[in-house]
Amino acid sequence: MKYTYSLCLLLGFVLFSFTAKAQLAAHLIPKPQQVTALQQKPVSLTAKSTIHYEPAFASQATYLQELLKAQTGLTLTLAPLSAGKAVNGGIVLRKDAKTATRKEMYVLESGNNTVILKAQDVNGVVYGIQTLLQLLPLQKVTQVQVEPVKIVDYPQFAYRGMHLDVVRHTFPLEFIKKYIDYLAFHKFNNFHWHLTDDQGWRIEIKSYPKLNTIGSYRDSTLIGHFFDKPVRYNPKRYGGYFTQEEVKEVIKYAQVRGINIIPEIDIPGHSRATIAAYPAFSTHPDTTWNVAYTWGMYNRQNNVLAPRPETFKFLKTVFEEVADLFPSPYIHIGGDETSKMWWKASPQAQEFIKKHNLKDEKGLQTYFVEQVAGYLAKKNKKIIGWHEIMEGELDTTTIVMNWANDKKGIEAAMRKHPVIMTPSHPLYFNQYQSKTKADSLQIPGYSPLDAVYNYKPIPDALVGKPEEKYIMGAQGNVWTEYIPTVKQVEYMIFPRMTALSEALWSNPKHKNFEDFKRRLEKTAVPRYKSWNTNYFKDYANWTLQNK
Ligand code: ACM
Repeated sequence: MKYTYSLCLLLGFVLFSFTAKAQLAAHLIPKPQQVTALQQKPVSLTAKSTIHYEPAFASQATYLQELLKAQTGLTLTLAPLSAGKAVNGGIVLRKDAKTATRKEMYVLESGNNTVILKAQDVNGVVYGIQTLLQLLPLQKVTQVQVEPVKIVDYPQFAYRGMHLDVVRHTFPLEFIKKYIDYLAFHKFNNFHWHLTDDQGWRIEIKSYPKLNTIGSYRDSTLIGHFFDKPVRYNPKRYGGYFTQEEVKEVIKYAQVRGINIIPEIDIPGHSRATIAAYPAFSTHPDTTWNVAYTWGMYNRQNNVLAPRPETFKFLKTVFEEVADLFPSPYIHIGGDETSKMWWKASPQAQEFIKKHNLKDEKGLQTYFVEQVAGYLAKKNKKIIGWHEIMEGELDTTTIVMNWANDKKGIEAAMRKHPVIMTPSHPLYFNQYQSKTKADSLQIPGYSPLDAVYNYKPIPDALVGKPEEKYIMGAQGNVWTEYIPTVKQVEYMIFPRMTALSEALWSNPKHKNFEDFKRRLEKTAVPRYKSWNTNYFKDYANWTLQNK
């Protein structure tokens, strides 16, 4: 009797400790597709444990080793897997397309003394690593226990992006890498790097060096809001650019983390920095243009390229140089807010339109887009353009990035373009997230956390239609006119980026804002703190209800 009682106590204790340990899987963010608790003992990991890895995942094994050390203080040993040899103990990163049957999928199984992570590609293994790290304590220890669990997980959408404008304000290389770490944690797979605009060129271009010596710097910057009267400027030279060596370093860093980098070179509008460097490409070649020092140039100041032979030679050379640098299958060519008034007023542009049988200035815009698409096709790259490029007829392989409402996204999908949704509401994270004074210096528009969390990339009108498949996913954008510092970028993206990660990764049937907020507190906020990042703390009190 006494013996049975003790056994019961012992069993109860063991079961209790199992369930107590099984809690971390309940806090994962973004929420996985499937989590099943296993009736096994937790797996112990110590500094004596090994990370066994398939050679294809060698860089990810090192990445896991570094993250594990940073999080827990444990440095595990690395060992390549030998073919056909079973492993007992530690962590195993295995390439296995039979188990992980989809792209970017992972299957994580913890039990029998071993944590096994299976994926068919680098992205899958990176996401499994992120999940595994969330199953471990965020503190320095000598031993950790991974709860016995099986997680089968894959993304809802193929394209999960974050954008950063480094033109209006620029940020150190170290922060760009940190941003990529933030993306990796949240299982995003694309970083859209907005590198050129009216206010500066931020990438080294060797074939046209004045883009950097002249185009990368402005003499002055607007103070306060664009709408403020009187207008005031800070007369301090501002600028800089990323060298190609730095760009290569960032690309390599991102590749290890399963992140594709899409550079954006914005043409044929948003080109004031270009014409400041090379006035010959403007509609008034005799003019000396300044790099812009105010925001919102559209229909206010001339910032378009003129359709001259030397302009097209320039575009071909520069886009080829950019294409050679970035392994991305897509290059973003901008195409937004191309003011037609400067072309209307230019006899040379009008003559070009006539000579090439173009319908009008919109036809000229399409001509620019098609020329660049052609240069890039020879480099095996597709183009992405903002939705305004649909003003003309386009090749259906052109990817449309829609920054307007659902209507434009539906139009693009019905025209059989792959679409990336990034509607300004709620996915411009430079819209304000509260109505407090701290958020007043942003672009108009209120996009609090629940608006982002509840965002559905597929517009209702497309659900169940064959064209639904054209919606690749969505992206959060960060335009930095009013975001001059790293701390402010972080404040604007967190926690909204965490909410977006779940809107793009998780099964919509599992979405629940209250449960998300619980996991945000449990899992994401402690990470923000461990990264020493800034974030908007009062998110729970600001919802769409606060009209
Ligand atoms: C944009 O906001 N002009 C893409």
